[in-house]
Amino acid sequence: KEYLYYQEIDSTNSQAKALASKGYPEGTLVVADMQTAGRGRRGRSWYSPGSQGIYMSIILRPVLPLKEISRISLLVAVAVAETLAEELNLPACIKWPNDILIDNKKIAGILSEVVTDMDGIEYIVVGIGLNINNQPQDFPSDFRTPATSAMAEDRCLVSRVKVLQGLLARLESHYLDLLAGRFAGTLEKGKSLSVVIGQELKLDTINGVLQGQAVDIDDHGFLLLRDQSGIIHTIMSGEITILS
Ligand code: BTN
Repeated sequence: KEYLYYQEIDSTNSQAKALASKGYPEGTLVVADMQTAGRGRRGRSWYSPGSQGIYMSIILRPVLPLKEISRISLLVAVAVAETLAEELNLPACIKWPNDILIDNKKIAGILSEVVTDMDGIEYIVVGIGLNINNQPQDFPSDFRTPATSAMAEDRCLVSRVKVLQGLLARLESHYLDLLAGRFAGTLEKGKSLSVVIGQELKLDTINGVLQGQAVDIDDHGFLLLRDQSGIIHTIMSGEITILS
């Protein structure tokens, strides 16, 4: 498996996409010490100062129907939350679909980019940004959600290599389970780590704004939301504001 390390790069996701389009195989890992144009969801940027965070992207080429793609988002979120909990003892939760929170502060974000062809998924680049040794006061003040880092929660310097190794092992194990048709365990873990189930939410989706109560995450990794009139909506992706 290919492993590429850059001291500085614009964005590991952009680099991984360029490599994937050149045919780099599944499992190719791109890691950087610093990003000059780290990208977040919805066109936002990702604060990526040198030597403080983990900025990584992995190329996946799963043979899966497109409708199972959200399972990959959920499994990545589970792997990140488990790594923080098990390696660093931090009470990490998942704010569906892509944010990892500690006490309502964001410690990690996931940006999955999917490229399809006639046969379905051609490749997915899964990008993960983790705040590790940042001082809390260093985060840019325009952060929508308050941010935190492993060091801010833990008050000691954390080994990024150890976190990266733990994360890769967990990603691989959940991914192999998924490919082998064993998603149930990952789903249960994802539900139990989720902060949104049972909460009253406002949800911004590509089809507009919805409000209601999150009732469950289904077998595809979709969020089920019950609106005021009792109708259950199945949501593939969106941006959540927790109201309750
Ligand atoms: C978000 O919460 O908005 C997603 C943030 C994803 C950031 C990571 S850092 C590594 C990878 N490369 C990027 O440019 N973005 C992702």
